[in-house]
Amino acid sequence: MKPMDVLMIGGGMIVNDLMLPCVYHLQRTGRVGRITICARHSAPLHALRDNAELRDAFPGQSFEALPGFDEPPEKRFPDDLYRAALKRLAPRQAVIVAVPEAQHAAVVTDCLLHDQHVLCVKPLVMTAAEAIAIERLARTRGLFVGIEYHKRFDRRSLVAKRQYAAGAFGALALGEAKLIEPYYYRHSNFQNWFTCDQTDPFVYVGCHYVDLVTFITGLRPVAVSSSGVKRRFPNGKEGYLWANARLRYENGALLSVSAGLGYPNDAAGSNDQGLLLYCEGADATGMIQHNDQDRGVRYSYLDPIGCGGSKYNYVSPDFFRFVPWEGPGAKPIGYGFESVEALLGAMARVETAAADLSSDRALARRREMIAEIDRQGLLATPANSLINECVVEAARRSILADGAWEVIGHQ
Ligand SMILES: NC(=O)c1ccc[n+]([C@@H]2O[C@H](COP(=O)([O-])OP(=O)(O)OC[C@H]3O[C@@H](n4cnc5c(N)ncnc54)[C@H](O)[C@@H]3O)[C@@H](O)[C@H]2O)c1
Repeated sequence: MKPMDVLMIGGGMIVNDLMLPCVYHLQRTGRVGRITICARHSAPLHALRDNAELRDAFPGQSFEALPGFDEPPEKRFPDDLYRAALKRLAPRQAVIVAVPEAQHAAVVTDCLLHDQHVLCVKPLVMTAAEAIAIERLARTRGLFVGIEYHKRFDRRSLVAKRQYAAGAFGALALGEAKLIEPYYYRHSNFQNWFTCDQTDPFVYVGCHYVDLVTFITGLRPVAVSSSGVKRRFPNGKEGYLWANARLRYENGALLSVSAGLGYPNDAAGSNDQGLLLYCEGADATGMIQHNDQDRGVRYSYLDPIGCGGSKYNYVSPDFFRFVPWEGPGAKPIGYGFESVEALLGAMARVETAAADLSSDRALARRREMIAEIDRQGLLATPANSLINECVVEAARRSILADGAWEVIGHQ
């Protein structure tokens, strides 16, 4: 396969913690070509370039920056600077969209109009209509759009999905999910965009478990009530910093989802998360319980180098870690890496399959391959995970109406 160039739009936490290390590793193993990162200031790009852990894991690797590294860190560039980076890309390379979710619709659309395949961090967009428009545009141009729901790649999710489909548990009746992110997020760049009018914890991380429950059970939610707790960020902006949502499913089942930015910095965490599904079969019940926080590995460090500056930590080797490997530095492992690798790999497969065909036949072949990925349902795409946007749209209406039940429209 020919290595694809990668452009990342956004230079924040998710790029630092997941996207850039994954892409660096794919670059040095021959699957990614040039890497460019575009933000609105050069400050986050300097931080990414100078991150000691990344330098240590990927010696000698770097990326092209827009704005350039020579620009003053605080000089603000226009929101659509990324269009200049898109123009520099050859057609049908890979763009990773990692800006706050309220901007996804406009940025992903621009990427497609510039003939690029897209990997978008979750949630794809805020409304079903935006997701449908993106799906149509991508289909017309034979471009792959994948949404990075990495929990799907956690081995326990894949095992549960397979066994649920085989009838091992019965049908979901009642469930609980929880994802409480660390308190220190409140001091991050989140305080500039995680405001009540833009998003909330259910949309931000609750969406992971909404996606996962449908991924495992195949059931679609039909109604949602989401309630939020408003608090102020250190900069005075008001956000929903805690949320609880209840979802009703097509078979009558209920799921409660709690989400927030408030897991104690001093706690062993590094966040609090898990899933419990009670199911019903013939005169018996089944159960799926995933403790996604404490995976049985506990480290007590000499210095406070754990998450949030703690010393004693529950360490997940499953999501994302650097480990020794046969090459220089360290390599990323875990379902976070596998998810990014699979989404970028799908783009490369689509391109390779159509590489030697005339342009009409190549377009038809790319569409065929993308339709097969949609049908397979392992990678989240606008076509096969539209229900998530339907939930997000209804949940935003609900939280702004103080928890009113909203019907989830199925388009
Ligand atoms: N678990 C996950 O899957 C996960 C985790 C974290 C974040 N996310 C998602 O990733 C997105 C970004 O989150 P984050 O944690 O990186 O936030 P962040 O606030 O740390 O970073 C956002 C970055 O985007 C940049 N940005 C904003 N508008 C831009 C524009 N128009 N052009 C270029 N850059 C722009 C900002 O300067 C900042 O560098 C959100 O949609 C979030 O929901 C997903």
